[in-house]
Amino acid sequence: MRVIIEKSASDAANFVAETILELVENRPNAVLGLATGGTMTPVYERLLAASQNGRVSFQAVSTFNLDEYVGVKASSEHSYRYFMDKSFFESTDIDRCRTHLPDGCAEDLRAECEQYEGLIEQAGGIDLQLLGIGSDGHIGFNEPGSSLSSRTRVKTLTKQTRLDNSRFFAAPEDVPYSAITMGVGTIMDARQIVLLATGKNKAIAVRATVEGPLSAMVTASVLQWHPNALIVLDQDAASELENVADYLTAEKIQRELLSQHNK
Ligand code: PGA
Repeated sequence: MRVIIEKSASDAANFVAETILELVENRPNAVLGLATGGTMTPVYERLLAASQNGRVSFQAVSTFNLDEYVGVKASSEHSYRYFMDKSFFESTDIDRCRTHLPDGCAEDLRAECEQYEGLIEQAGGIDLQLLGIGSDGHIGFNEPGSSLSSRTRVKTLTKQTRLDNSRFFAAPEDVPYSAITMGVGTIMDARQIVLLATGKNKAIAVRATVEGPLSAMVTASVLQWHPNALIVLDQDAASELENVADYLTAEKIQRELLSQHNK
């Protein structure tokens, strides 16, 4: 687990966007696992800028989003499909046929989940999975208590998650009760994972993820077990970590080694 602590939320978003852009530059047909949520907006702004100024093309990229609310139509402004279209897809050269989100209005939700897993497999698996984190430590909508080997399925949202997400709805009772989400096992299959957390309200969840025991009660903690996971934080999200000095030193040395190597 590589822990990167940037000075500001903007610098943290820059780091994440650069990681994605370098992948797409080296691998134009990369398979990206994408995330929604307020934390991701500045990342998509930076990806869009790079697409619009000609630095990269997303034309051959395929994407799989983590999750989608059950019972919310794709055309609704509350759907994650809508969020992705407006924040990223519509303003890039990406081929819409290669952008995937689970269909939360599918007649047979179980079959939809199985099909989603199949599509990821057919695409050759995910090269880089982008993740946010819930204040309860969830990744995707894998709420506390989720199996650490779970696959894509329907999950009931906790009271805390519904409360956190109510800021995007007119009234708290409008927040859906369930969502289709990639499972923890599905996420762990990605070849690289980049988790971005910014703001003080994520600090406790970040501490549990990085320094706590591996536990289904904090599903993000499973990333301790992933061979290639980056945890990118701003200072606020890092504010509850005990070993900040060690992470900063390790990162400084790593960057010095990399720059010597690249000379
Ligand atoms: P947020 O959501 O970026 O809106 O805080 C993160 C998440 O729940 O994964």
